[in-house]
Amino acid sequence: MNIKASKGDINNVDTEALTVFCFEGTRKPAGTLQALDGVLEGVISVLLKKGVIKGKSGEVNIIDTLGRLPYPQLVIAGAGKQKEMDAEGWRRVAGETARALRRRNIESISLIFPDAASKEVSPEDFGQAMAEGAVMGLYTFRKYLTAKADSREIKAVTILAPTRPEVIRLNRGIKKGLILAQAANMARDMVNEPSNAMTPATMAETAAGIAGRYGLELKVLEKEEMHKLGMGAALGVSQGSANPPKFIILSYQGRRSTGVDLALVGKGVTFDTGGISIKPADKMEEMKADMAGGASVLAAISGIAQLAPEINVMAVVAAVENMPGGRAYKPGDVVKAMNGKTIEVISTDAEGRLTLADALSYVDSVIKAEHVIDIATLTGACVIALGHVCSASYSNNQPFMGQVVKAAADAGEKTWQMPMFEEYREQYKSDIADMKNVGGRPAGSITAAMFLSEFSGDRPWVHLDIAGVDGAEKDQRYQVKGATGIPTRTLINLALRMAAKNR
Ligand code: BES
Ligand code: ZN
Ligand code: ZN
Repeated sequence: MNIKASKGDINNVDTEALTVFCFEGTRKPAGTLQALDGVLEGVISVLLKKGVIKGKSGEVNIIDTLGRLPYPQLVIAGAGKQKEMDAEGWRRVAGETARALRRRNIESISLIFPDAASKEVSPEDFGQAMAEGAVMGLYTFRKYLTAKADSREIKAVTILAPTRPEVIRLNRGIKKGLILAQAANMARDMVNEPSNAMTPATMAETAAGIAGRYGLELKVLEKEEMHKLGMGAALGVSQGSANPPKFIILSYQGRRSTGVDLALVGKGVTFDTGGISIKPADKMEEMKADMAGGASVLAAISGIAQLAPEINVMAVVAAVENMPGGRAYKPGDVVKAMNGKTIEVISTDAEGRLTLADALSYVDSVIKAEHVIDIATLTGACVIALGHVCSASYSNNQPFMGQVVKAAADAGEKTWQMPMFEEYREQYKSDIADMKNVGGRPAGSITAAMFLSEFSGDRPWVHLDIAGVDGAEKDQRYQVKGATGIPTRTLINLALRMAAKNR
């Protein structure tokens, strides 16, 4: 899809259908709508009065212009409540509107930069929101469907603005929005792949593809090297699978010095059967998404590379498959992580924290990153606590946490900070090892996070439990059913923010 801003207005545009936004609660047409209403002899006023046009987000009304305007059709698209229209509001409207117009088989969208929008958001933010919302909202994953789609694809979106400076600013935003949305869609593609097509080896190949495209450095540690480094926890998880583990390290260098400013660590369990502590069959297929954290860090670094901030970022994924079998690790086993700590395995289904134990130890002792953020579909308890609205976040460093919260808010990917009170530590004490990998049912997301904190050293660290937000149950706003790509855009925003702060 091609998306750009051009100079134009309601009388000077070459299109089949012109799209104009209308806010919810509009009684009488004003501004652009008023001008159009005049030419169309009051039809917009009538439709507003009758309540046909309500202005709700995602609503589209198509009016025949009967030769009175240079284009055959006028689309009045609902834009929601005007005072709620920040960047996220426009992103949502863009997603809903783009999908509604695709359902009507409209192939190219020309829309007017709303007069009122500029009061709430800058042209840059509007352009970015339109690009992100449309590109993410129109996402499909059809590679395994042999039948053709029922509707045509939208090929072009043009935002029309009256002045050159506005066009330039809109285009600047569009460019950034495209990179963010394409990165999110890349993460979605990886997560939507079935686990027979997205194995640890495929994740490593995907990383190699990103490295090749953007000139990044890639290192993949094989099982033997992981063994040499003492990654007994991640290896324990992977030993039941015929698919060998891959420890993926993908680096972006945006400034001269060699230190790593930010390490992005993603859980990369390409399928989580639960292992010997096997999961119930119902919905087990959803566990192909247990590498969503890993997908998000790889996709984020591809976006970061394109935006080229002055910061050094590294993505780390201990990619494994968690299977039962004759070689599988078992409840009661004791494994040793790379930092030397021993762990009694109570449940082989609490495998994410074991893989992250070694990934975080590696980042602490080998990479020595200044800041560390890990992202994991870690616990069902997180879904019970916060549902599908926000991720749970944890940190040992409030200023860094604050930056992550802002980066997430800018992306419209909400997160909520949870406590890590010392008292919870009691729950995962073991009689025979340094700790257990399970802290019982109460506060399950918290004890999992505190378990991770045992491996991140003293570095400023944030953990995001994304178990409730990595997938969407239906098409809504700019999300589509399936993988959401969360928190890819948060991670890109974070790198941009940190780079801006360092300048
Ligand atoms: N991958 C799951 C967590 C999960 C559950 C993600 C549901 C998305 C939706 C994780 O590996 C897991 O199985 N966690 C266990 C931990 C328990 C055994 C302490 C859980 O949450 O039940
Ligand atoms: Zn599990
Ligand atoms: Zn898991």
